[in-house]
Amino acid sequence: MEKTAKLVVNGKSYELPLVVGTEGEIALDISYLRSETGLITLDPGYANTGSCKSCITFMDGEKGILRYRGYPVEQLAEYSSFRETAYLLINGELPLENELNRFSVMLNDHSLVHEDMHHFFQNFPRRAHPMGILSSMVNALRAFYPEIPERSEEEEINITFTRLLSKVRTMAAMSYKISRGHKIVYPRHDLSYCANFLNMMFDSPVKPYVIDEDLVDALNVFWILHADHEQNCSTAAVRLVGSARVNLYAAISAGICALWGPLHGGANQSVVEMLQEIHDSGGNPAPFIARAKDRDDPFRLMGFGHRVYKTYDPRARIMEKTCNRVLKKLKIHDPLLDIAKRLEEVAVKDAYFIDHDLYPNVDFYSGIVLRAMGIPLNMFPVMFAIGRLPGWISQWKESMEDPKWKLHRPRQVYTGLQERDYVPLNKRG
Ligand code: SDX
Repeated sequence: MEKTAKLVVNGKSYELPLVVGTEGEIALDISYLRSETGLITLDPGYANTGSCKSCITFMDGEKGILRYRGYPVEQLAEYSSFRETAYLLINGELPLENELNRFSVMLNDHSLVHEDMHHFFQNFPRRAHPMGILSSMVNALRAFYPEIPERSEEEEINITFTRLLSKVRTMAAMSYKISRGHKIVYPRHDLSYCANFLNMMFDSPVKPYVIDEDLVDALNVFWILHADHEQNCSTAAVRLVGSARVNLYAAISAGICALWGPLHGGANQSVVEMLQEIHDSGGNPAPFIARAKDRDDPFRLMGFGHRVYKTYDPRARIMEKTCNRVLKKLKIHDPLLDIAKRLEEVAVKDAYFIDHDLYPNVDFYSGIVLRAMGIPLNMFPVMFAIGRLPGWISQWKESMEDPKWKLHRPRQVYTGLQERDYVPLNKRG
């Protein structure tokens, strides 16, 4: 295996080091490219550019593989809990029983939201999108929970991790209750992480919520599937903002904003809106597939395609099984699921989708699961954000601990006008 690659520019040759990953992926290390050659690279959207080395999550887009700290996501979805998977991503190992219990106690202890924050929630317009509320309130957490100088840095950061994991879940439910004009439901010490969320969302003084363990299991799987995904757009945002050494709350708030986009975490909401549009127009997916293939039409088949997966997203398969399980348990027949299955059937056989390596991604079925559980449409990206929190936290932690970490500051190729002199106002035009 060669240790370097040769670059020849204007007759001059350079040797660039190669970096080989654990699974054999090879990268050209261009850390000193400009200082040695005067050249920079150009890679819009960073489709060919690695921003870091990471030990957290491995994806193989050609084979449809996803592993968190070496564990296949299929096994974690089958045997683990979201709380345990969050611990694994952040700490690198599955917890021992005493470690898991201590983590649970910390999540419980930090599950309440400062009472003064409630006023903020009360004063957002009722129709405000919950992702906008969430990114604002996560940023506000630093103001309400300032650093305690007496605490060690490690203790402070571990408390910040558990505050985020626990309070973001509580804030999401609070925001929903307030948007409905309903009384806030507080977290309970006797409920698990996922059961607490469902209870805070749906319990009511006039209709006590009955915990359904099958739905709790489905929510665990949903959040495990979303927990991390290497250097996706929102994680890259967390690392980039974090590289300026800003506090973690601000970096996570930036991640929430990036995830909000319909091309990223907002896709689960857009998928259901698209399926509803197909349903309302008679249920025939053909015109929508034709639009998706039309290069002059900006319409994209939401929930299809991926920057890394050029085959089926392994999470989509698990999400479809979870979808079938939840609908069966709740005895719901959702016509949108039939449309989704028909859409997938047609698309995966279509030459355009085959040629472009377009397959269902995690968002294609996830919205139907949330709909069946009674989560409102505009909260779908919030559900993605709660799931992605352990991933953002673990990636931020890894970047802060990287001895070679630098401020993120990409270069550019300037294609604007060359130097020219200022023109006084009375001489323009
Ligand atoms: C997530 O990065 C992650 O890991 C993200 C995520 C995570 O867990 O963090 O997995 C979560 O964001 C999943 C993706 C959710 N988004 C959607 O479902 C929105 C619909 N999909 C796309 O817009 C698109 O597939 C992207 C944005 C997801 C990826 O697109 P790329 O890699 O930037 O590729 P591209 O936009 O340059 O498209 C390449 C070609 C183009 O055709 P040509 O101009 O080359 O002929 O594929 C076509 C595109 O038109 N194409 C699609 C399509 N996706 C790509 N055509 C129709 N429908 C689509 N969905």
